Amino acid sequence: MSALPTSITPAQRRPIRELPDELISQIAAGEVVERPASVVRELLDNALDAGASQITVRLASGGVRLISVEDDGLGIPREELTVALRRHATSKIASLVDLETVGTMGFRGEALAAINSIAELSILSRFAGSDTAFALDGRTGELRPVARSTGTTVEVRELFFATPARRKFLKTDATELAHCIEAVRRHALARPEVGFSIWHDGKLVEQWRAASTREQRLADALSDEFVAQSVAVDREGGPVRVVGRAGIPDAARSRGDQQFFYVNGRFVRDKVLSHAVRSAYEDVLHGQRQPVYALYLEIDPSRVDVNVHPTKIEVRFRDGREVHQAVRHAVEDALAAPRAGDAVAPSGAPQPFFKPAPLPSNAGWAQPAMDFTPREQRGTGDFEAMWPQRSGDQVPLHAAEPAAPPPWPAASAAPAGFQAPAGLPLAPNAGAQSIATNDEAWPLGRALAQLQGIYILAENSQGLVIVDMHAAHERIVYERLKTQLDGATISSQPLLIPATFAATPQEVATAEACAEVLPTLGLEITPFSARTLAVRAVPGTLADGDPVELARSVLAELGQHDASTVVQRAQNELLSTMACHGAVRANRKLTIDEMNALLRQMEETERSDQCNHGRPTWRQLSVRELDSLFMRGR
Ligand SMILES: Nc1ncnc2c1ncn2[C@@H]1O[C@H](COP(=O)(O)OP(=O)(O)OP(=O)(O)O)[C@@H](O)[C@H]1O
Ligand SMILES: [Mg+2]
Repeated sequence: MSALPTSITPAQRRPIRELPDELISQIAAGEVVERPASVVRELLDNALDAGASQITVRLASGGVRLISVEDDGLGIPREELTVALRRHATSKIASLVDLETVGTMGFRGEALAAINSIAELSILSRFAGSDTAFALDGRTGELRPVARSTGTTVEVRELFFATPARRKFLKTDATELAHCIEAVRRHALARPEVGFSIWHDGKLVEQWRAASTREQRLADALSDEFVAQSVAVDREGGPVRVVGRAGIPDAARSRGDQQFFYVNGRFVRDKVLSHAVRSAYEDVLHGQRQPVYALYLEIDPSRVDVNVHPTKIEVRFRDGREVHQAVRHAVEDALAAPRAGDAVAPSGAPQPFFKPAPLPSNAGWAQPAMDFTPREQRGTGDFEAMWPQRSGDQVPLHAAEPAAPPPWPAASAAPAGFQAPAGLPLAPNAGAQSIATNDEAWPLGRALAQLQGIYILAENSQGLVIVDMHAAHERIVYERLKTQLDGATISSQPLLIPATFAATPQEVATAEACAEVLPTLGLEITPFSARTLAVRAVPGTLADGDPVELARSVLAELGQHDASTVVQRAQNELLSTMACHGAVRANRKLTIDEMNALLRQMEETERSDQCNHGRPTWRQLSVRELDSLFMRGR
């Protein structure tokens, strides 16, 4: 039997009554204030809404003993000070229309009242144009004149003193302090023109001076490395603009702790947005690596609902699809485009799609940051078998000696209009031309030699360029296949005998619902009976696999996700497999011309910094780095 009370007697029932104000505020505080950092967030929101240009945060004992936020904003008129502490009292909105187009951080008129109900709060403020400042004691309501310049200081002491249960959930001072600093950092990244400083127990722990550019603030509040290892994002489409910086794939981390997304200046966590960014990295990021980014979405306030979550960390878009696409394309474009700060690509010159990938600072000759994946893991080694008419040394990388494209593996697997990958010419004639040494034309430099059958060594004005030839060629082939396949469908191969299997009702439903999508994946799956599905055709390239397993996994994916993304992903995965087979294998001897041809193609190919498994394709070793290896010039 259940332990829950199953009945209640009339005598036990309490009458319906309005809750006392204090308790209402404490309940609201429970939603809004989880820890000291939540108070910091609310007070910073208020200071920014008041037009502050300098904000000082003072904390004691991780913020539990004291949180004081001082600003030089507009201030609060004396007669409104007590109103500011009342529930649902705000100067920021006055109507539903205001709410729907709200541009301030705050609008609920709840934060100060909530904080006042669970801590000792006082406000000191001098309103712009007034000659006296006043201090309000939140407990007693006492108002007295004090000395201070225009602006406001809100002091919060003994957080959760009135709600000890909450206090028990707090972590160590150091942890709470870290959360408080993070809260300030989030605001600082949104407002570079505002200066911030943070003091803890009397010591200055962070200071970010007012900055004239977003990049400067990102460098100060995150790191110089964040800026150096990221590309500028700026794309406007319809009612949405996305700006900011997206980390290059190399800068990705194991934790998603440097992912900042803002909507109209407000830090948010949103599935639509993070998924959109993630999908922009899909092609260039390895496994579970987390990209770093600071992205700012600007959108008409009426197209986004910020009144979704008490802490305002979630938002709801009127058209999520529109936002998803805008973000995805903005980041994709930025990652594919020529990188800002690329010293060797002046405007007007042919733009390479890369910037020199610097060695991480801790990399020495002994532990280079290059990918030393064992050779046998780089490919299946079946390349020679696939192209029996050529010895491993003769696969034409060079179009100067045109060769008929070899047949597509598995005969019918190639989609119509498709060139077999190894038949792709590597920049016709580029290698044969006289070798220009200037980086403007050839940022990746000119080939010098091949190392271990794996790497191409080249020289540019900065020093040595090292290219993983298989990884690089794989990306080139992959990008070409993608362009060729754009809009087309994957060719399918009918099965002589359809493979039937007992399907779940959901699988049957998905197969029926996706009857139009499946053929674009090269699949034909039709209901055989109410409980049985028949696989009648599979993609030509996967003809040797288990059709039932394939059908099941595709249906499972289709059942979960939006059909268009599955199709896109599936196609990319197939292409990726094809590209890997088509790319030049390790241990192939290349001529200098062939090597130069490969370098030139890399320069022309989008996203050529990474192979399509997210491994780097090349590295720059500067003369300075070489000098330091040999301790020259010390
Ligand atoms: N630092 C400040 N400078 C000037 N005015 C302030 C400051 N802090 C609070 N106020 C005033 O006090 C009012 C109440 O603040 P409170 O944070 O409780 O509500 P809000 O910001 O309007 O809405 P929300 O609950 O969403 O934060 C504000 O509307 C604002 O007018
Ligand atoms: Mg507020």
